[in-house]
Amino acid sequence: MEWTYHNPVKVTFGVEAYRSISCYVGDRKALVISTTGFVNRGGLDSLKEILGDKIAGVVSNVRPNPDVEDMAQLCADSHQYNFDVIVAIGGGSVIDAAKILGAGMGSWGETPATIRDFLSNGAKVNSGGIKPVIAIPTTAGTGSEVTPFATIWDNSLHKKFSIDNPGLYPEVAIVDPKLTYSLPELHTITTGLDAVSQAFESIWNRKASPATIAIATQSLSYSLKALPLLVWDIRDEKARNELMAASLLAGLAISQTRTGIAHSISYPLTAHYGLPHGLACSFTLPAILEFNLQHDDGRFAQLASSLGKSGTEELVVCLKRLLGECKIYMRIREYIPSSIAVISLLKEMFVPERANNNMIPIDYKIVQFFLEKSLESGIDALH
Ligand SMILES: [Fe+2]
Repeated sequence: MEWTYHNPVKVTFGVEAYRSISCYVGDRKALVISTTGFVNRGGLDSLKEILGDKIAGVVSNVRPNPDVEDMAQLCADSHQYNFDVIVAIGGGSVIDAAKILGAGMGSWGETPATIRDFLSNGAKVNSGGIKPVIAIPTTAGTGSEVTPFATIWDNSLHKKFSIDNPGLYPEVAIVDPKLTYSLPELHTITTGLDAVSQAFESIWNRKASPATIAIATQSLSYSLKALPLLVWDIRDEKARNELMAASLLAGLAISQTRTGIAHSISYPLTAHYGLPHGLACSFTLPAILEFNLQHDDGRFAQLASSLGKSGTEELVVCLKRLLGECKIYMRIREYIPSSIAVISLLKEMFVPERANNNMIPIDYKIVQFFLEKSLESGIDALH
């Protein structure tokens, strides 16, 4: 058995951890990147209180699922400021955009065409251009604060760029659950389901190691308990804290393994129908789990035992119950008209590189089976 684990991000986790940001910025000038929502909720005021004149500028117009046009605007807006470090405070979209901006500063221009070229080449970092990123997530789900990945969309072509480049690792991740306390229910559930999905996808991954399985297992021990509690009571702060820990741990696990076929299936649904990422990447999880269970090399039996389940069957029941409690099909139905609409995207969903991440090889037919099995009692039944 041979494996390596390397993640260079310095992580600090805890309620009020956010207040330590000044130490991590140090003597540097910071460009703050966020969303209008964060500014409207008064977040910028408290950041200004903490960082004072260390803030060189603020760009707060990052939109969900940023595309190449948004990146061109972000680059243009940022170039007017003199800064040494980027402070990205927001959800996965903000952190992903900041990571690409940090990698590209000084190495690419400001047009969608040059950004497409930069992304097509894997966002290779120009050594003179890189700006470090301090990532502060305000959602519990993507784990982007500790991964070398970024997703940027090309809306005009209904596609996305999935960048995987060690140059995208943030310098520091400040993970403060308190920043999620006011997150609305839909956002809490969709991002939380992303954390669940990423932990499972790391466990049934070809690149899984004892380290990543241990981390992903701990992530699931938090999320499978916390998410139903939050569905019941969105103000449950202990559950919020645990879901944030689950998100961080799932991010650490996939930073080594990447994700798998459930994520591959999700992207066309987000590109074509705007389906929130966490819904798109979780509705197939039970079908994929049941399939992989037939080839259990011991990892699922161990997972079930670690989670206090009587066996792997109970794991499946627990996952199905979670998706039911999150009303996943009712939510998906608000975006997607029918099962046929989902199946029609099958060709785009099958990406061999992601499919090959599964613990045993899966082909196009198996992906079709996952979809049909996931949909049979799903979207159409609710119409
Ligand atoms: Fe994800």
